[in-house]
Amino acid sequence: MKAIVLAGGAGSRLYPLTQVSSKQLQAVFDKPMIYYPLTVLLASGVREFCLIATPHDLPRYQSLLGDGSQWGVAIQYREQPRPEGIAQAFLIAADFVGSDDVILMLGDNIFSGGDDFPRAVSSFTAGATIFAYHVKDPERYGVVEFDRTGKAISIEEKPQHPKSSYAVPGVYVYDNSVLDIAKAVKPSIRGELEITDINLEYLRLGKLQVRRLSRGFAWLDAGTSTALHEASSYIEAIERRQGVKIGCPEEAALVRGFLSIAQFETLIERMPACEYSDYLRGVADEWHRLQEDKQ
Ligand code: TTP
Repeated sequence: MKAIVLAGGAGSRLYPLTQVSSKQLQAVFDKPMIYYPLTVLLASGVREFCLIATPHDLPRYQSLLGDGSQWGVAIQYREQPRPEGIAQAFLIAADFVGSDDVILMLGDNIFSGGDDFPRAVSSFTAGATIFAYHVKDPERYGVVEFDRTGKAISIEEKPQHPKSSYAVPGVYVYDNSVLDIAKAVKPSIRGELEITDINLEYLRLGKLQVRRLSRGFAWLDAGTSTALHEASSYIEAIERRQGVKIGCPEEAALVRGFLSIAQFETLIERMPACEYSDYLRGVADEWHRLQEDKQ
C-alpha cells in the first residue's frame, strides 16, 4: 500500500497565517500539522509516500521531511499548481502509484485514538474503504447515508439538508482502479475534481466499504483560526495527561520496526535540546527497559 498526502489548497480561512506558510505546516501544539497524518500512515505500515503541495510551498516540505530515510521510509514530491480538487491527486501522482493500492490522506486531518486505520489498511483487499464520523455540522463535509442494516446508500458533498450526521474524514483507501476512475471524473459546479465522485463510482459498482469510526476517536479540523487553536489545546491536554505524544513520526517508525533503536537514537542526537527530543529520549529508555524485561 502506497500513500498520497495532499497538502495543497489555499488555506484562505487561516489568513494571515497562510500568507507566509502553508496551512499544513502550521503548528498544532508542538509539531507541524503534517506530522499528524504522516504518523497515522506510518503507524498503518505505509513506507512509500508522495506528498503533493503548491509549487510555492513544496520546497518547505522537502526541507522539513527530506527523502523520508530518517524515518526509514521514502517520500517523493509532486506539485499541484492550483487547488483543482482532491481527486486531482490521482492524476498528479499516477506514476507514483503505479500498479499498487493507495491510501489518500489530507494533510490537515488530525486524528487521535483507536487503531481503525491500521486495521483497515491491513485487512484491505479490493474496492474502496472510506470512513464515517459523527459530527454536529455534517453540511460542511461529504455526508454518508446508511440504510437500516448499516450499509452505505448515498454520499452527498456539502449538502444543504444532510441525510445523516456522518461526515467522511479525509482518509480514503483505494485499489488501483482509482487511477482510471479519477481520469473519468469531470469538474463539479465549483470547478473541482471531487473525491465524492470517486467514492460514488465505487458505491455504484458495489465496491465501497464505509467504516464508522468509534465514539472515543477524535477527528479534528484545523481549517479556521479557532479550530486550529482548539486542535492545539486538545493535543496539549491529551499529551500532558497521558505523557505520550500524538503525531510523532519517529516513535511510529520505531514501533513499526522501520528504524532500529540505534537509528532512532542517532536521530535524537541530531536534534536540539527541546521538549520533543526529551520525549523521544524517554521513548528510547522505555524501549531498553522492555528489552531487559524480555530477557
Ligand atoms: P479545504 O479545507 O477544502 O481547502 P483549503 O485547505 O484550500 O482551505 P480554505 O478553504 O481555507 O481556502 O481543503 C481540504 C484539504 O485538501 C486541505 O488539506 C487542502 C487539500 N486540498 C488540496 O491539497 N488540493 C485541492 O485542490 C483541494 C481542493 C484541497
